[in-house]
Amino acid sequence: MAACERICFLFVANNYLMDFSAVLTSRRSIRAFSDKPVSQKTINHILTDAIESPSSSNTQPYKIVVAQGETCKQLGQELLSRYRKINKIQRQPLPIKLLKAMTSKAMPDGDYKPILGKYPGIFQERRLATGRGLYRTMGIERGDKHARDEQLARNFTFFDAPVAMFIFVHPGMKFTALVDSGIMMQSLMLSATNLGLGTCPQGALGMWRSPLETHFDIPKGYKLVCGLALGYPKEDEQVNDYRPEKLALSDLIIPSKK
Ligand SMILES: Cc1cc2nc3c(=O)[nH]c(=O)nc-3n(C[C@H](O)[C@H](O)[C@H](O)COP(=O)(O)O)c2cc1C
Repeated sequence: MAACERICFLFVANNYLMDFSAVLTSRRSIRAFSDKPVSQKTINHILTDAIESPSSSNTQPYKIVVAQGETCKQLGQELLSRYRKINKIQRQPLPIKLLKAMTSKAMPDGDYKPILGKYPGIFQERRLATGRGLYRTMGIERGDKHARDEQLARNFTFFDAPVAMFIFVHPGMKFTALVDSGIMMQSLMLSATNLGLGTCPQGALGMWRSPLETHFDIPKGYKLVCGLALGYPKEDEQVNDYRPEKLALSDLIIPSKK
């Protein structure tokens, strides 16, 4: 490579690195969206970027439902209504709770069961710290169960995002399907951030599968793993200022025995 070409390459490479880092660090989960619509062109751009992701032997073992417009609104209402019903059942005395759990159509029918109760070990501490930080940013008092419940409920209407995506994987690809779909989701989120949009990956949207079956022909065998809200962040919303701390590198790296 000639010297001037090399300088040019380094210049471009350094600029690229700086811009990329800015995109990476400015991505944060967005939990309040404006009603500004997202054009089909923008959605296609983001999805086209996402399919550039690596996957095990290029198997790309995922499928995506993209819900927009009226479908997105209807889905949100359906999921919210189910959430409210199970929330109510949760508050009943044990025998009624058990009876309802057997008979209610609102019971979760997702493919991957969430961890019930506490997360193991240090992960529960991190989970609680993240939740506390979020509610503090929003000015919700620790003991205000109603406000916390209402914030949780907002998951199911995608925090008012105009687009909701649902990621399915083929379980025949075992754990690699989950790794591959996670990488693809991150590409999607970074592409959206780069275009000035916001996203929130939402495990909560894996709780119910059947409302999606009403609107979409989900290919046989595919399992719902996660959802994702997409839209333009609402301005001046405290919740969008929340930047949970990441681990120190020393907490991440496994030191050598030497
Ligand atoms: C697989 C996965 C599931 C998540 N599920 C939810 C969810 O259901 N609701 C929510 O508000 N945030 C959810 N999040 C967002 C995390 O809370 C968030 O990524 C974490 O607190 C770090 O914050 P950051 O994304 O702003 O860096 C999820 C993130 C991931 C990766």
